[in-house]
Amino acid sequence: MTIICLLIHLFILLQIIDQEINPHVAKWEEEGQFPAHKIFKILGNAGFLGVNKPVEYGGLGLDFSFSLAVAEELGNINCGGIPMAIGVQSDMATPALARFGSAELKKEFLQPTIMGDVVACLGVSETGAGSDVATVRKGDEYIINGGKMWTTNGTQADWMCLLANTSEGPAHKNKSLICLPMKLPGVHIARKIDKIGMKASDTAEVFFDDVRVPCTNVIGQEGMGFTYQMLQFQEERLWGVANILTMMENVIEETINYTRQRKIFKQPILYHQVVHFRLAELQTEVELLRSLLHRATALYIKGNDVTKLASMAKLKAGRLARELGDSCLQYWGGMGFTSDVLVSRFYRDSRLMSIGAGADEVMLSIICKYMDTLPRK
Ligand SMILES: Cc1cc2nc3c(=O)[nH]c(=O)nc-3n(C[C@H](O)[C@H](O)[C@H](O)COP(=O)(O)OP(=O)(O)OC[C@H]3O[C@@H](n4cnc5c(N)ncnc54)[C@H](O)[C@@H]3O)c2cc1C
Ligand SMILES: *[C@@H]1O[C@H](CO)[C@@H](O)[C@H](O)[C@H]1NC(C)=O
Ligand SMILES: *[C@@H]1O[C@H](CO)[C@@H](O)[C@H](O)[C@H]1NC(C)=O
Ligand SMILES: *[C@@H]1O[C@H](CO)[C@@H](O)[C@H](O)[C@H]1NC(C)=O
Ligand SMILES: *[C@@H]1O[C@H](CO)[C@@H](O)[C@H](O)[C@H]1NC(C)=O
Repeated sequence: MTIICLLIHLFILLQIIDQEINPHVAKWEEEGQFPAHKIFKILGNAGFLGVNKPVEYGGLGLDFSFSLAVAEELGNINCGGIPMAIGVQSDMATPALARFGSAELKKEFLQPTIMGDVVACLGVSETGAGSDVATVRKGDEYIINGGKMWTTNGTQADWMCLLANTSEGPAHKNKSLICLPMKLPGVHIARKIDKIGMKASDTAEVFFDDVRVPCTNVIGQEGMGFTYQMLQFQEERLWGVANILTMMENVIEETINYTRQRKIFKQPILYHQVVHFRLAELQTEVELLRSLLHRATALYIKGNDVTKLASMAKLKAGRLARELGDSCLQYWGGMGFTSDVLVSRFYRDSRLMSIGAGADEVMLSIICKYMDTLPRK
């Protein structure tokens, strides 16, 4: 695909966002959910759910940098929850399946996910100590018990990419990723979690009670789940950074627009040096983060392990989003404290960036591991 084709494609995406998504964001935020099946079908038809996935399963067969171009464009959606749910479907629950899954699994789970016919979720995070999802093998089946917390779009997803213990052994060698249909007997949605942000995206707590799934639903090799998930996390984190970059730019731009027209004693708020200097500083940080993202992406598509750079970008994105949301909201005054302006939604939604997909401290631990600064055993 040429650059021109991609530009036309991104233009189509912008149209979908402007016509099918943004006019309804306020309503979906209020309802705590958006019609994922409908939106995913529109995006799937246009090819946006499988940008870097194989053509034979309905993907566009492009490299990951094109997925990130789409992630950046999705940042034009006026909330964080919907792009996050789209990202789970396109680039968080599926990378391992696309890379390591059997042809049968890809036909059954990957293809309909890319087409937007089913909704996917990712089950990695767990409720608490001792609540790990455990499996027992009986013949050709696993019997799954345990629970997963914080599952984006878990309340109505059709299948889950589940990380579960499948054998005895050292921590990183006894887990597997399993494609788990959510309609199976024994899958219980415990509750839809009430959150301070990302409101348009539902987040569920899911429990498994003797759920039986064929062993052939394991992605790739049994016992490699942890390793696969670490690879999958690289894409999840880069995707999150790309997505939030556009949101940060939009928040700055809206803040410029608002503070230029809002005058106090005949002077636009924007023309106070403290305000426009601060916005210039923030914009500079956004550009620095963009450079880091692009560098990590360029290395990644050449086949390098970019865990360190991706972790740095994710860490920085979380910190910058918090600073930027706070500073910009301040310049909106009382308007910034109302619920439905972009800046306050960003303030709430972006707080997740420092927590989800591994908290800031986890990113720091990973970076330290690569810097070899952790205490030696
Ligand atoms: C809206 C939302 C959607 C989500 N969607 C999904 C999803 O679809 N699938 C999924 O699997 N997960 C999902 N998550 C889970 C998310 O990835 C986790 O919340 C995140 O990884 C943090 O894990 P935890 O909540 O268990 O925090 P904990 O592990 O309990 O950590 C709590 C805090 O302890 C500190 N901490 C943790 N580790 C360290 C350390 N090594 N050193 C120092 N301090 C540390 C950090 O400050 C951290 O924030 C979602 C979460 C939310 C809120
Ligand atoms: C997985 O490994 C851990 C750590 O060695 C162990 O405690 C646990 O029992 C194992 N789980 C299973 C299901 O084998
Ligand atoms: C699963 O494995 C983890 C380590 O990977 C271990 O801490 C946990 O105890 C195991 N849980 C069960 C229920 O086997
Ligand atoms: C989750 O998926 C279902 C369709 O399976 C959809 O109806 C629901 O609105 C979705 N919610 C979110 C927030 O994605
Ligand atoms: C800010 O104003 C400019 C010029 O009027 C307009 O083109 C742009 O879309 C506005 N930006 C936002 C984010 O509202």
